[in-house]
Amino acid sequence: MKIALAFLFSFIACQCLAQSNTDESKVQPYTLPDVLKMPDGKRVTNSREWQLKQRPYIYRLFEENQFGRFPATKTAIRFRVMESDRNALDGIATRKQVRIWLHPSDSTVYADVLLYIPNNVKKPPVFIALNFSGNHTVSTDKHIALSTRWVSSRAKGGVNNRATEASRGADTASWQLHTLLQKGFALATAYCGDWETDTVTGYQTGIRTTMKDILNIQPNEWGAMGAWAWGLSRIVDYLQQDKAVDARKIALIGHSRLGKAALWAGASDQRIALVISNESGEGGAAISRRWYGETVKIINNNFPHWFGAKYRTYGDSVNTLPVDAHMLLSLIAPRPLYVASAEDDKWSDPKGEFLSAFEAGKVYALFGKQGIETDKMPEPNQPVGETVRYHLRTGRHAVTVYDWQQYLEFASREFGK
Ligand code: GCU
Repeated sequence: MKIALAFLFSFIACQCLAQSNTDESKVQPYTLPDVLKMPDGKRVTNSREWQLKQRPYIYRLFEENQFGRFPATKTAIRFRVMESDRNALDGIATRKQVRIWLHPSDSTVYADVLLYIPNNVKKPPVFIALNFSGNHTVSTDKHIALSTRWVSSRAKGGVNNRATEASRGADTASWQLHTLLQKGFALATAYCGDWETDTVTGYQTGIRTTMKDILNIQPNEWGAMGAWAWGLSRIVDYLQQDKAVDARKIALIGHSRLGKAALWAGASDQRIALVISNESGEGGAAISRRWYGETVKIINNNFPHWFGAKYRTYGDSVNTLPVDAHMLLSLIAPRPLYVASAEDDKWSDPKGEFLSAFEAGKVYALFGKQGIETDKMPEPNQPVGETVRYHLRTGRHAVTVYDWQQYLEFASREFGK
């Protein structure tokens, strides 16, 4: 009888996890893994213990259980400024288009970075970000090279999965480039598809295949999230030797799936000084244990190429996952972190994103940094928190003017501008 009941309950749980829930009253109680509990059962009491012992331990748990291995092998990448103009955007910025060659001998393995630097600021801080459909979508600036790579059939202006002139500026609303430059920040962006196109077979032509011998890692040891995060680190490599920007002040922003990649990049590369997760949802900032919006099971069914193989085994048993989103956010500490949600974006589970940001505050406290004061969800459009900050914007899943206003203010404050 007992066995039959247990079977029935686990059957119901499996059915639930394959479906999405947006009714808060149906969220079952859950227990989060204690981010401060060390493998020997003792609790972390200071920042030194965190940095030396607990952080590396939790980072490894994420490699093993969620994202796959992050290649540690250093590569000798090469850069060339392919095009530049000191008089871009009516003279307010310098534009550079930089090619980064990743492979020591295969010159077809490269990524293109688009950089805008405000002309009126000496060594400005810089926002880095991956974009969804090519650098040419970020601005209507006609001098940006059109991406020649595969793009999603949903990409505006795309014909047969290739960008066309009609694709230019398709995503300007998400970038707010002029405001960013006016506030004294530079922007460096690259197309995520330059590292790996976002399809199940994308790895076959992406860096997980072309770089496998150089990086000493097989394609199935990591996923597209890892490839994108690794790519972000190569942008940081480039910026570190570009004297025109302040590479000690790199703010990384990512939206949605690229927000998940941004969190993993921020966890993996501590040269990134500030991290922003815009509606990253499941596998990003949202607590996986909450049955609300997208679930581990759904994300792995729909996007089996995003994460490491082991993550796919937790679909029906998310409570046995040794990590959860608050631990991913904790890996950013003590660096400034902004987590944002949108009210109508239930799929990303706004409350789950808020709660993990709140929980991460425990690790920030070890460094004497203030996170979010209370676990009471704030009202829409009322940002809360200090070094960990959060807002719930009204409206849908997007990066909007409101979001950018908050991020630019936050980064200005944290970078002492
Ligand atoms: C899908 C996916 C999400 C992802 C989003 C996006 O909705 O389920 O996990 O964040 O796409 O990247 O826009």
